[in-house]
Amino acid sequence: MCGIVGYTGTGEAGRVLVEGLKKLEYRGYDSAGVALHENGRLIVTKAAGSVADLEKMLNDQYQAVRVGIGHTRWATHGPPTDLNAHPHSSASGDIVVVHNGIIENHRSLRRKLGEEAGYKFRSETDSEVLAHLIEHCYDGDLLKAVRKAMSQVDGSYALVAACTREPDRLVCARKDSPLIIGLGAGENFVASDVPALLAHTRRACVMDDGEFASLTPGKVEVSGADGKLIKKDILEINWDIEAAEKGGYDHFMLKEIMEQPVAVRETLRQRIDSASGRVDLAEFDLPPEQLRTLEKIYIIACGTAYHAGLIGKMVIEKLAGIPVEVEVASEFRYRGPLFNTNQLAIVISQSGETADTLAGLRLARSKELPVLAITNVVGSSVSREADLVLYTWAGPEIAVASTKAYVTQLVALYLVAVYLGQTRNILDPGLAAGLVKGLLGLPGQLKEVLSDENIAKIRTYCNHLVNWDNAFFIGRSLDYPVAMEGALKLKEISYIHAEACAAGELKHGPLALIEEGAPVVVLATQKAVLEKTLSNVQVVNARGGAVFAITREDFDDVERQVDSIFYLPAVNDILAPVLSVVPTQLIAYYTAVARGCSVDKPRNLAKSVTVE
Ligand code: M6R
Repeated sequence: MCGIVGYTGTGEAGRVLVEGLKKLEYRGYDSAGVALHENGRLIVTKAAGSVADLEKMLNDQYQAVRVGIGHTRWATHGPPTDLNAHPHSSASGDIVVVHNGIIENHRSLRRKLGEEAGYKFRSETDSEVLAHLIEHCYDGDLLKAVRKAMSQVDGSYALVAACTREPDRLVCARKDSPLIIGLGAGENFVASDVPALLAHTRRACVMDDGEFASLTPGKVEVSGADGKLIKKDILEINWDIEAAEKGGYDHFMLKEIMEQPVAVRETLRQRIDSASGRVDLAEFDLPPEQLRTLEKIYIIACGTAYHAGLIGKMVIEKLAGIPVEVEVASEFRYRGPLFNTNQLAIVISQSGETADTLAGLRLARSKELPVLAITNVVGSSVSREADLVLYTWAGPEIAVASTKAYVTQLVALYLVAVYLGQTRNILDPGLAAGLVKGLLGLPGQLKEVLSDENIAKIRTYCNHLVNWDNAFFIGRSLDYPVAMEGALKLKEISYIHAEACAAGELKHGPLALIEEGAPVVVLATQKAVLEKTLSNVQVVNARGGAVFAITREDFDDVERQVDSIFYLPAVNDILAPVLSVVPTQLIAYYTAVARGCSVDKPRNLAKSVTVE
């Protein structure tokens, strides 16, 4: 859950590291630090706080330094303090490490290094043990020492180590946490993610689990645990640097909300044959006979991705006739699911690094279920461990609150549902043609939803919401998971407690909380249950709740029954969630802004949750 950057070359290492760490703050941001090679020593500067605080501490004093490592942390073992911040140094100060992951046997290693070798520990972190262990194993070659040390370690790690005696060399190791090597001319880089590299190079290679790398300014060598060199594929990264930055918006979240039309268009690209009306998912490469005989699908995900899964369930069941169970990944493997042949697992993860989701994926694979991953990050752990991968082409999502990744996850699930329905010859061709046309129309409709006029409407509503400590989101059928997503988004970034409720469930308890003026957002986009939803709204009205309705322009009976209204373009019921979630995102965003909250980096949360 941390961000790592390493640099060896002829440029200003301190600046490269700080700029790189800024791009990785989405991975964690409670403390930051760097270690820079200077006159035969590794000088560590670190503190609790942001990368901007670190930058002030460094105050340009390391301009002449050419090699170093940096880290931005999201606390797991030990609170966010100066001492617990990375980098961590060995007893002599000769070895310095930055680490992302968890060392599961750190206690026994601590005991061993403390009792048998007299090492003294300064921090409460599991990571510090690595610095001492590598020093303990060091015999003149940092790569050999790291390899020997990591053979004694259980857990997950992306590790970069530096040594005073090998001043232009960095050594990296990876298991279950991402690490990408950026290749430059006379300089090389390593980082947890691509945005940290983009300002310097577009040539990169992704380290795999169990690999080690040695970086000097002129050479990168990747090897296995046995020391044998491994030839890596070089990727050309074609992300625009602008895509990883805010592009003129006040926050990444707003930029990412506005990017949704493009994200959806990209995710649909080349997956629909509009002439035949068929969905063509080359990535879903299972024999048609296997798809025809599927008896059950498990969808495994967390948070927002789980909410996408809830919609996926309803849509796959309806269009493809396959029963689907949606599982919160952190519960899935502990509840003893009943596996069988003829099942498929779909894991959904924006980052592709979520520990719980990855564990669910591994469980499904261990039971011989084929696993289809829906993820946004090429080269992520999920993408590499799944049997099949369907990428959402949302582009990098930096804000902790997921928006554009969510709508692309929905689109990917629609594509899967139509594809399965067509392959199994279950889906009515007329319905399929309507859905395909509807999918292709979504980017244009999203643009309409994001018009200035609509945004002004949302801002007016937020003036009311901003003063409340509790809010309610209600809906039926496909509107219910959207209500759940809207509530999650509001609490995540505005810190207003928000509860999602199946509209028909209000009367079974939550209604007791509705008082005069209480904010209630009703999702009313499903024709089949519209009347029922509106009767639930009447019950709220009778208690004085202030109802904001998100509905469709072809539903003309809603306006007179609510306090304020947001119209979506007319849309197929099944596809409505892609549009209806957008006003809920905007409600969360503008309420958080009005409350002065840290929108892109909400308190206590991180973008990529790589611990259980
Ligand atoms: O990267 P993932 O999609 O696996 O992340 C799952 C959740 O942690 C994530 O969706 C989280 O709920 C978001 N911050 C919500 O906006």
